Amino acid sequence: MSEQPKRVIIVTGGAGGLGRAIVRGLLAQGHRVAVMDIDRGAAEAFVAELRRESNAADVFAVGGDIAQEADCQAAVAAVARHFGRVDGLVNNAGLGMGVVRADHMQNPVKLEEVTPELWNKVFAVNATGTYLMTRAVMPYLQKNGWGRVISVTTSFFTMLNRGFLPYGPSKAAIEASSAGWAAEFKDAGITVNIVVPGGPADTPMVPKEAGFDRAALIRPEAMCGPINWLVSEAGSGVTGQRYVAANWDFDKPPADAAKQCGAPIGWPELAASTRVWPGDAKNRVKR
Ligand SMILES: NC(=O)c1ccc[n+]([C@@H]2O[C@H](COP(=O)([O-])OP(=O)(O)OC[C@H]3O[C@@H](n4cnc5c(N)ncnc54)[C@H](O)[C@@H]3O)[C@@H](O)[C@H]2O)c1
Repeated sequence: MSEQPKRVIIVTGGAGGLGRAIVRGLLAQGHRVAVMDIDRGAAEAFVAELRRESNAADVFAVGGDIAQEADCQAAVAAVARHFGRVDGLVNNAGLGMGVVRADHMQNPVKLEEVTPELWNKVFAVNATGTYLMTRAVMPYLQKNGWGRVISVTTSFFTMLNRGFLPYGPSKAAIEASSAGWAAEFKDAGITVNIVVPGGPADTPMVPKEAGFDRAALIRPEAMCGPINWLVSEAGSGVTGQRYVAANWDFDKPPADAAKQCGAPIGWPELAASTRVWPGDAKNRVKR
């Protein structure tokens, strides 16, 4: 079997709970990884820890707020300078409902509690930040004629859940954006996909106040099944898909595991069945 090319992948929120597992997973596959985080100190400390463990020069820390266009452009440029190229992006950074209230699981957040400042803050990071980072890496991926964009959204039940605003809708915006990007870049060798944990995962985003048995939460490492496969050569041509990491079966060949936990991004059946378009015979109404 031919050796897999080593890619340069940026992981946003790389110093957080899922981010660390994703970074370790990509490094274990032999890729070079940039840990981007708004908490630059945490990104640097994590990179130092990884270097102590494996002596790897393949990991790089970069600070930046994904909600700021200049930070996104500068971070991607810094990664390109450091590694000489950029091949992919994992849009993992995000703000959870904890920014509104730590006990939001027991006592659902109410509309009146979500001030315009909080609404805008969550959308600026989760939705706009994902767009800004995707836009910042795209010229590099287009230059390669090869690229991967993987965004971490959330489960559909969370998007629609009582008390999960503005988090849920901000993730729904990434879901819809990713469907459009997948279609736009499908013939450019660049794939755009989504990976979700599938439910609450054992990370700082799920606070201890939530009261879960931590051992029953999804392990952050679950993310590595679909993400490693999407980044690999086997993931070429796989685009516009959404994978539920908790349902990835590590005992199966990756293509079978992907089939079992994947589906097209978003709500394609609804989009098709409710489409009303000028001139479509089926939509003509009697006047
Ligand atoms: N933990 C879960 O149960 C769960 C479930 C579904 C989806 N997710 C999603 O997974 C992703 C990772 O979440 P996590 O659980 O690891 O959370 P986490 O809080 O442990 O990590 C998030 C990381 O993002 C960084 N970050 C926050 N704002 C940023 C910004 N503006 N710019 C750059 N970095 C920023 C933080 O510093 C942190 O390191 C998020 O997008 C989250 O919405 C998490």
